[in-house]
Amino acid sequence: MSVITTHRQGEVLVVVSNNPPVNALGAAVRDGLVAAMQEASGDDSVKAVVIRADGRTFFAGADITEFGKPKTDSVDLNTVINTIEASAKPVVAAIHGTALGGGLEVALGCHYRVAVPSAKLGLPEVKLGLIPGAGGTQRLPRVVGVEAALPMVTSGDPIPAKLGASIGLVDALVGEDSLEADAVEFARSVIGNASHPVSSARTDKIAGTDPGVFDAFRKANARKLKGFEAPEAAIQAVEIATKHPFAQGLPMERALFEPLMAGTQSAALRHLFFAERAANKIDDVPADTPILPIAKVGVIGAGTMGGGITMNFLSAGIPVTMVEREQAPLDRGVATIRKNYENTAAKGRLTGEQVEKAMSLLTPSLNLEDLADCDLVIEAVFELMEIKKDVFGKLDKICKPGAILATNTSYLNVNEIAASTSRPESVIGLHFFSPANVMRMLEIVRGAKTGASVLATSMKLAKTIGKVAVVAGVCHGFIGNRILMARQQQGDAFFEEGLLPEQVDKVLTDFGFPMGPFQMADLAGLDIGWTKETSDPSKVKDVLCERGRLGQKTGAGFYDYAADRTRTPSDEVNALILDLADKSGKRRDHVSDEEILERLLYPMINEAALILEEGIAQRASDIDVMYVHGYGWPSYTGGPMFWAGTQGLDKIVAGLEKHADKWPDLKISKLLKDKVAKGETFA
Ligand code: 3HC
Ligand code: NAI
Repeated sequence: MSVITTHRQGEVLVVVSNNPPVNALGAAVRDGLVAAMQEASGDDSVKAVVIRADGRTFFAGADITEFGKPKTDSVDLNTVINTIEASAKPVVAAIHGTALGGGLEVALGCHYRVAVPSAKLGLPEVKLGLIPGAGGTQRLPRVVGVEAALPMVTSGDPIPAKLGASIGLVDALVGEDSLEADAVEFARSVIGNASHPVSSARTDKIAGTDPGVFDAFRKANARKLKGFEAPEAAIQAVEIATKHPFAQGLPMERALFEPLMAGTQSAALRHLFFAERAANKIDDVPADTPILPIAKVGVIGAGTMGGGITMNFLSAGIPVTMVEREQAPLDRGVATIRKNYENTAAKGRLTGEQVEKAMSLLTPSLNLEDLADCDLVIEAVFELMEIKKDVFGKLDKICKPGAILATNTSYLNVNEIAASTSRPESVIGLHFFSPANVMRMLEIVRGAKTGASVLATSMKLAKTIGKVAVVAGVCHGFIGNRILMARQQQGDAFFEEGLLPEQVDKVLTDFGFPMGPFQMADLAGLDIGWTKETSDPSKVKDVLCERGRLGQKTGAGFYDYAADRTRTPSDEVNALILDLADKSGKRRDHVSDEEILERLLYPMINEAALILEEGIAQRASDIDVMYVHGYGWPSYTGGPMFWAGTQGLDKIVAGLEKHADKWPDLKISKLLKDKVAKGETFA
């Protein structure tokens, strides 16, 4: 069957796209739309056209799989949209699901747009390192004005149809279950109009735009947009719409679009788009693996992680019983959850009613027995094997058969934890990232005996609570923290050479990380794993702990912190480092930023390659997804493995060899070397 079909509703021609899964605007869809418009213009009995889609969504954009491939004979999207817009007969876009990218551009080419209330509309191209390439930056501001258009084109986030209606993007909201009938009705109501709105010809919303609005927007969003090329191009394109007629603006938009499409940032971001979707697939767990119902969750520990983990489920409407060992930490945990929700409500992102609804789903408890009827229990107690084993031994006796027993451990052996139960097939690692209610990453740690249904259910659950999941095998620190350890090992070597925290951190923030290793250590707390008894006076971090400089929480760590958390370099710490450097005999006058970057990142690539070699990660792109969502690796570089490919793996290996004396235990991955020999990347 053709992907575009037409049928009549009296004098209205209804054009229907059926191109699963998301009605992407591939070649056949574009050709079909033009043919349908020709059918409409060639038939006098047709007085209006409705364009809608079957399946779960209106057009979700251009077909991303066509990007970077040679052009075919089919018409391009601009031709499709211009054909629709030039129609003398009114064309109505009937939107459900998502009208995204090229999909919204098609809708903007229509004279009218109607949508069901649950629909979302957006121009997400920046998320792929692009700007709209089919007139979106020129038509959208003409329809909604510059102030509404700028956040849409630069963030890429879609807006709900109701908001769309309030800014003029949607002409009418229609029945959730009567889209076609209501759209046809709408089309009939405009047939007699003297003229129909043509988005590209409109000037009413852009006339008199304050030219200062663009720089003001850049300034207000500087932090969010730092490092990304596409949002700046999008701002320029919208500015063009305010200064030039559409016929000139369209080729100018193209001129901004094309270098982005050919550039590395877009290749990186498109790689991540597909990588995130690939990460959902577990090679030996078939798609039809039975999913276990998760109607009630237990969380053990109401500390930093337990509280955040609990919020994920409450927010998704799933009741949680949160168990602590004593009343005081339990009360603190509950109060923190409430405070977090109330802070969100104060920012207008939740209503008071939603806060109370979430809190009403929480049952605090001091009794593990209360977890007996939970479908899933997540343990987030102290990071000590003996305690974890004790907790799992008890859960084994308390929990109902088939319940999933999960640990949030950062490093510990999940198989050993599983062995403390009589049902290792039900045990899994669900490693959330801090703050667990905010960070989108979820590392799912698969034990040697974890059952397929337990894995499949955990993957599905990740989606339910809005997380991006990556599967890891068991090893110390799994994928994420094991790779991070490779970076952290450089700390002492840098200090021996007299490098100061701010110089090292700046190299990473310039690269695009939100913070450097020492800023991150201050945030997490320097005393993790430190004890007075084992403190080593030759290690900077240990000395800082001895002096009570435990990081942000004590107002002092590698840096000094003011009451409002403003960070300044510490004279005391820097003097300590330089003193230790002098004593080490390894102090150097100058270390280049390039060397610092190589020494921070190359060992991470090597560790990641070892992880792949050992089968701990399923695929290189999973590591990219994890580092972008879990550790702030800049998405526009594509993640560590993609980035390594853009640098050249030979350069990475050469760098590892060049600095080998800095890592006494360095073992260069065989996989990495093999790839260099074959001239391959991890793509
Ligand atoms: N092109 C090709 N394939 C696409 C696609 C697209 N635009 N959008 C989604 N897909 C594929 C996915 O890769 C996935 O394939 P898989 O099942 O083989 O893994 C499948 O469709 C389903 O996608 P999701 O798993 O993401 O489904 P969801 O229901 O969770 O989400 C969605 C649906 C919100 C539409 C989401 O897929 C999405 O955000 N898609 C991308 C939208 C986008 O970026 N559009 C702009 C494209 S660029 C453009 O239009 C340029 C223009 O200006 C010229
Ligand atoms: P935390 O110290 O903030 O909280 C642990 C809580 O568990 C405390 O409130 C404690 O009273 C409670 N607890 C201890 N034993 C208990 C028991 N037998 N029964 C019930 N409650 C008990 O620790 P945090 O940071 O929340 O860490 C918890 C786990 O999460 C650890 O395994 C840690 O490695 C892991 N993790 C921590 C991350 C972080 O950034 N803090 C990130 C990811 C994982």
